[in-house]
Amino acid sequence: MTHARILGTGHYLPDRILTNLEMEGFVDTTDDWIRQRTGIHQRHIAAENEAVSDMSAVAARRAMENAGIDANEIDYIICATLTPDMCMPSTACFLQKHLGIHRAAAVDINAACSGFTYAMEMANALIGSGLYKTILIVGAEKMSNLLEWDKRDTAVLFGDGAGAVVVRGETGERGVLSTFSTADGSACDLLYVPYGGSRYPITPKNALEIDPGIIMNGRELYKRAVVAFGEAIAEALKRADVAPEEVTIFIPHQANVRIIASATSRLGMRDDIIYLNMDKVGNTSAASIPIALDQAFQEGRIQSGDIVLLAAFGAGLTWSSTVIRW
Ligand code: ACO
Repeated sequence: MTHARILGTGHYLPDRILTNLEMEGFVDTTDDWIRQRTGIHQRHIAAENEAVSDMSAVAARRAMENAGIDANEIDYIICATLTPDMCMPSTACFLQKHLGIHRAAAVDINAACSGFTYAMEMANALIGSGLYKTILIVGAEKMSNLLEWDKRDTAVLFGDGAGAVVVRGETGERGVLSTFSTADGSACDLLYVPYGGSRYPITPKNALEIDPGIIMNGRELYKRAVVAFGEAIAEALKRADVAPEEVTIFIPHQANVRIIASATSRLGMRDDIIYLNMDKVGNTSAASIPIALDQAFQEGRIQSGDIVLLAAFGAGLTWSSTVIRW
C-alpha cells in the first residue's frame, strides 16, 4: 500500500530569545523553579510583525530544499496551528501565497499540541487514498500572542516557532508505519483560550469580562498527559508491530520533561533514545515535534532505516502518535 515518506524537514525559530532569568524580572518566578518543574531554560519569541505564516514559510522552504523538490510539486498543504494569522482565510492559504504555489489544496487543522501528529495521520490517509501525492505539513505557533506575561502558571511554558516536513507517497519499506489519534472533549476545560471565538467574540463587554489568555489546570493536565502520552506511544507501536526496544529515536511533544520521563519509564523506554530540546525552545505547541524532528535529523541522530516514534498530547484533550521507518 502507498504510504507517506518524509522527503525533507525544516524549521524556523525567531531570533529573540527570552531566558528564564530575564523572566524573573517581570513575573513572580525563578529560573530554578522553571528548570526543575518543566526542563525549560529559554524560549524564542516572534517579532511583533511576524505572523505564523511568515515563520511557516521559512520552515517550509527549508523542508522543500532538503527534500529537493520544487514548490509547485506540492499538491496539498496542511497547517497545524492554534494561533492562525487570521480567522480567515486559513494560514495554509497565506503560506501557499508566500511559497508561490499556484495550485494545491490548503487547509488548517487545530488539535492544539497534537496538531502535527494529527496532520501526519491525515496526510498519510490522503496519500494512501491515491488522491494526493506530495504534501507539505507545517506545525507553527505564535503562542506569545496568547500569553499574559504576569501569569506565572502559563507565561513560563510556551514559545514560538515553526517546523515543516514534505511527504510523498511511496510503496517501499520506508515511510509511515502507523498512526494513532484520539481525543476526549470532556476534558476541554483543562486548557483553553475563551476570548475571540464565537462563544466569547471580541466585543467591548467581553474585552472587560473574559480572560484574554490561556486558562489551564496544570496539575490535572499533568496527570492526564502522563496517561494519554503513554497510550499514544503504546498504540502507535502496537499498530506498527514495533517493540519499544526497536525504536531508534523518540521525539515527544516538548511540554514538560517530567511528563515525558513518567510516561516513558512506565513503558520501560531507554532515556538515551529520547530527543529533548525544550530547554532551548519551551513548548511550541503544534510546532514542537517538527522543530525537534528537523534538529534531530540535522544533528545526525536519524539515519536511513531508523525507526522514529513521534507522540504528542494537547488541549482538547487530544493525543496522537506516528511511527516512521526513515
Ligand atoms: N514559578 C514559580 N512558582 C510557580 C510557578 C512559576 N512559574 N507556577 C506555579 N507555581 C507555584 C504554584 O503556585 C504552587 O504554589 P503553592 O504550592 O504555594 O500553591 C507551586 O508552584 C506548585 O504548583 P503546581 O501547579 O503543583 O506545580 P507542578 O509541579 O504541577 O508544575 C506545571 C506546574 C509545570 C504547569 C505542570 O503542572 C505541568 O507541566 N502541567 C502540564 C501543563 C502543560 O503541559 N500544558 C500544555 C499542554 S500542551 C497544549 O496543548 C498547549
